[in-house]
Amino acid sequence: MTKVQSQPVVVEDRLRVGHAVGAHGHLTIADCDVVDLASQYGTPLYVYDEALLRRQIQSFHRALRQAAMPYCLIYATKAFCTVAMCHLALAEGCHLDVVSGGELMTALAALAPPEAIHFHGNNKTEAELELALEHRIGAIIVDNMDEIERLNRLAKARGQVVRILLRVAPGVEAHTHEYISTGQQDSKFGFDWESGQADAAVAAVAACDALELRGVHGHIGSQIFDASGFHIAVARLARVYAHAFRLGLPVDTLNLGGGFGVRYTDEDTPLPLETLIDGVTTAVRREFALHDLPLPTLEMEPGRSIVADAGTTLYRVGARKRVNGVRNFVAIDGGMTDNPRFALYGAKYEVMLANRANELGTEQWSVAGKCCESGDMIAKDVWLPEPQVGDILAVFTTGAYNYSMASHYNRIPKPAVVFVQGGQSRLVVARETWQDLLRMDC
Ligand code: LLP
Repeated sequence: MTKVQSQPVVVEDRLRVGHAVGAHGHLTIADCDVVDLASQYGTPLYVYDEALLRRQIQSFHRALRQAAMPYCLIYATKAFCTVAMCHLALAEGCHLDVVSGGELMTALAALAPPEAIHFHGNNKTEAELELALEHRIGAIIVDNMDEIERLNRLAKARGQVVRILLRVAPGVEAHTHEYISTGQQDSKFGFDWESGQADAAVAAVAACDALELRGVHGHIGSQIFDASGFHIAVARLARVYAHAFRLGLPVDTLNLGGGFGVRYTDEDTPLPLETLIDGVTTAVRREFALHDLPLPTLEMEPGRSIVADAGTTLYRVGARKRVNGVRNFVAIDGGMTDNPRFALYGAKYEVMLANRANELGTEQWSVAGKCCESGDMIAKDVWLPEPQVGDILAVFTTGAYNYSMASHYNRIPKPAVVFVQGGQSRLVVARETWQDLLRMDC
């Protein structure tokens, strides 16, 4: 049984940062009327509050600066990867983390300086590694022994020496959904810390003349609310780092990945960013002092916590169905193709009829997508006024892992993306057409 969301009693309680109720009871985001946005750009539509994106990045910088430790803030593009977003992140002083040739090409298209690009992945192909070498990107985060051999061979053939970090699985169980927990021992990612694989990887890299080991990386999971996992990870990563340092390798970087949780519904209680970062940096100081190591440059790779809150998806209601005594369904013109997170993780979202933002919920409704699959839902049993065909339904906190995980199931085109700011909107990704979907068919 899923826990039923409580019924909000005050309209303002449902509004998010940057949201307000404007003329005719319409929801506004950064002073843009969402009903106008839906008419101008069509639905479904991803809407991002540009100023909020910038503010989220700035709060990371502020918290990291307070720690008075050299740092590098790296935006994990997988959360929302478009040229406009990469551009914004770069303008706000971020580097970019990419995990595929496609993300790497997007970063380059956004004119990222190559040295600001960091390349992850547990199975980078030769073509992807060649692309990274060709552009002499900042660092490659090496995931396994096969990649050590492959990258060393490719770099050597080009006469290059490449900066690398080793991805370590620190054996930490982050308390989050199993599919987005990555730092535990039973993981496809990284060199296992517990069995000594990580130390063996350090030794293997020491023997490679085309690889320069600059640091150690660990990412324990995503949507994490509990800081203790980070503290354990720091202690374990510091031991691997110390091993490399004692071997005389030029390590100077500790990358702790991303994973900071956000609030989707009242059930989520993220720690204040300052508290989290203060805890992490204190742990880094303590552990590095323990091993008598100079302080490293601390790298952090947040994705979700930079983009989730700033995103809202708009849909149009097309149909309703009541199954008396069982459930009420309201069908929207998108669904798991633009947001697969309910289907994948049972993720919860808050929703609103955005053209009737002053009205409180009177009944519970389940928001169903338009795909041929019963699991195609966006939210279950949420309070809404009785939906009418043509209403605009807004889903909040969809900025992370929605656009980037969108699919073409049922050959549904991907929605457009707009950035809004100070009452103005601009298209940053055009809506796909049916013709676009046919383009690759031979
Ligand atoms: N760095 C590394 C190496 C990662 O694997 C990830 C996320 C991040 C940084 C960024 O983590 P964030 O700050 O966004 O939590 N599709 C899932 C999330 C998968 C996250 C994978 N790695 C979801 O929709 O919840």
